[in-house]
Amino acid sequence: MSDKTTRQITLAFTGASGAPYGWRLLQCLLAQQVQVHLLISSAARVVFATEHDIKLSAAPDKCQAQLVEMLQCPPHLLKVYGKDDWFSPVASGSAAPSQMVVCPCSTGSLAAIANGASENLIERAADVVLKERGQLILVVRESPLNAIHLEHMLKLARLGVTIMPAAPGFYHQPKGIEDLVDFMVARLLDHLELEQQLVPRWGYQGGAS
Ligand SMILES: Cc1cc2nc3c(=O)[nH]c(=O)nc-3n(C[C@H](O)[C@H](O)[C@H](O)COP(=O)(O)O)c2cc1C
Repeated sequence: MSDKTTRQITLAFTGASGAPYGWRLLQCLLAQQVQVHLLISSAARVVFATEHDIKLSAAPDKCQAQLVEMLQCPPHLLKVYGKDDWFSPVASGSAAPSQMVVCPCSTGSLAAIANGASENLIERAADVVLKERGQLILVVRESPLNAIHLEHMLKLARLGVTIMPAAPGFYHQPKGIEDLVDFMVARLLDHLELEQQLVPRWGYQGGAS
């Protein structure tokens, strides 16, 4: 699927509220010709059907074909793996992309990642990025947060993980939900060091360069 010159990112959708963030991020990555290794938990499929009216197939191959069709992207840019696909590149430090985003990230997946559990491919892929000292970003969503959630986030932040709660700002004067989603996705693209023109940068709203 990949060559060494193409930018690659692992993206995981888990079962927290916030499917529109994940969907928009996927669109933006593909638009920049980033190869996306996509992992989708079974709870994430439920959330996508609930929040986004998108029914993602449980079969990785079918899901991949479905997404390529829906997003009109070149097939080589998107690869979907199942939760037990231990032979996928993301399962090994020898082949995994160095960047991974879990968006949205449930507190369940947060806990598993914080404790080094690798019972499914999402947890394993995050574990690999951690051990290889890559970049891991978790877009956690829950409210309120209990002490367990906070401890897990602190533990991971101390390991260099970027905890980016799904908490959009309002200072860009959003006109609707899409603007709130774009606020989060813009910050994610910034952290991934990818281009973004979704939201003007602070101090540049008037078009200054
Ligand atoms: C519609 C819906 C919304 C949910 N929202 C959240 C949420 O915001 N945060 C969270 O931690 N869990 C949420 N959950 C619960 C998780 O999906 C559940 O704990 C699941 O086991 C997480 O599994 P996963 O991490 O493998 O995706 C939600 C579930 C559903 C069906």
